[in-house]
Amino acid sequence: MINNVSKIHVKTSSEYDVLIGSNLIYGVGSLVKEEINPCKIAVITDDRVNALYGNVVVSSLEKSGYSVVKFVFKHGEESKNLKTYGEIVEFLAENQLTRTDAIVALGGGVVGDMAGFTASTYLRGIKYIQIPTTLLAQIDSSVGGKTAVDLKSGKNLVGAFCQPTLVVCDTEVLNTLPDEIFNDGMGEVAKYALLDEKIYDLINGEDMFLSRLIYLCVDYKRTVVEQDEFESGKRKLLNLGHTIAHGIEKLSEYTIAHGRAVAMGINIVLGACLKQGYIDKELYEKMLKTVVKCAGEQTSPYTVEDICNASLTDKKRSGDSICIVTVHGVGDCRTEKIQVEKMAEFFK
Ligand code: GLY
Repeated sequence: MINNVSKIHVKTSSEYDVLIGSNLIYGVGSLVKEEINPCKIAVITDDRVNALYGNVVVSSLEKSGYSVVKFVFKHGEESKNLKTYGEIVEFLAENQLTRTDAIVALGGGVVGDMAGFTASTYLRGIKYIQIPTTLLAQIDSSVGGKTAVDLKSGKNLVGAFCQPTLVVCDTEVLNTLPDEIFNDGMGEVAKYALLDEKIYDLINGEDMFLSRLIYLCVDYKRTVVEQDEFESGKRKLLNLGHTIAHGIEKLSEYTIAHGRAVAMGINIVLGACLKQGYIDKELYEKMLKTVVKCAGEQTSPYTVEDICNASLTDKKRSGDSICIVTVHGVGDCRTEKIQVEKMAEFFK
C-alpha cells in the first residue's frame, strides 16, 4: 500500500521531483510513466539489490508498458570504475538503447553514481531515474546530479553533473538493509546535522522519524543545489568531512565505507576547529556527541599525515591549495582555502 508520499521539487537546470514514501517501489512503473513515455529502459543494479528488488522493479515497469533490459554488477565500491562503466555502455549499445530511452539506477550510491555517469555520457546523454535503496543514497547521492566513477588515483575523479528525471525514495526498502549499511548512511546524516539546525534538533530530539529525517536532508540539499548546481560556491559545504574521508577510504582500499569515513572526517575537522578557536569546548562536545549519536564512535586508524597525502588527488584541490569546510556553529559551516603543505598541520 502506498501512503503519505512527500514530494520535493528540485529547481535546477532541469527540474525534477524527489518522492519520499513507503512501498513506492511496487508502483514505480506508473510513477516513471508520469515523467517518461513508454520506451526501452535499462535497469542498472548490483547483485545484492537485484536479488531483493530487481524483479519487482522490472515487472512494475513492464506492466506500465516499458520494454526492460537489466545490467547487474557485483556490489561494492571496487566495481565503481571505468571497466564496469565500459561494460555498461557496451550493454546499452548492444541492446540498442536510443536517445529517447532511459536508465533506471536501482541501488545505493555506487549504483546511482555509475548509472548516472553512464546516462550523462551514453549517446551524449539520456534520461535517468534514481531509485536509491540505501539511506546514504536517499538523503544525499541520488539528489543533485553528481555522477562519477573512481580512478586508481582516487574517488569520483571522472564524472559529470547530470540531473535525474525523477528520484523515488521508498523508505520501506531501508528495512532490508544490513545494519552496517544503514549506519553508513548515518555518517552523511551527521554532516547534515552540523549544516542545518532543523536536522540537528531532530537528531537530538525525542522522536526521530526516519521519513522526516530523509525529507529534511533532501530539502536542505535542494536549497543548496538550487543556488549552486555546479559547485562553485555554497555547494562546497556539502563536502564537510569529505576531503579527509576520501583520503581514509583510499588508504583503506575502500574497506572503510564512505559514510563511516565521513564521520571520521567530521571528527577530525571538529578537532581542528576547536584548536583554531572557531568553536569553544562546550559546543565541540555537543557536536561530537551528535556525530556519535548518528554514526557511533568512529576513529580513523590512519595518521593525519597519511590521510592528507592520500587526499592530494581530491577534486577540492586547485593548484597548491585545497578547499576545506570548517565548522563555526550549528548551521554555520564555511569554506576555507588552505595551502596543501599546511593541511596536515591544520588537522593535527
Ligand atoms: N554529496 C555532495 C554533493 O552532492 O554535493
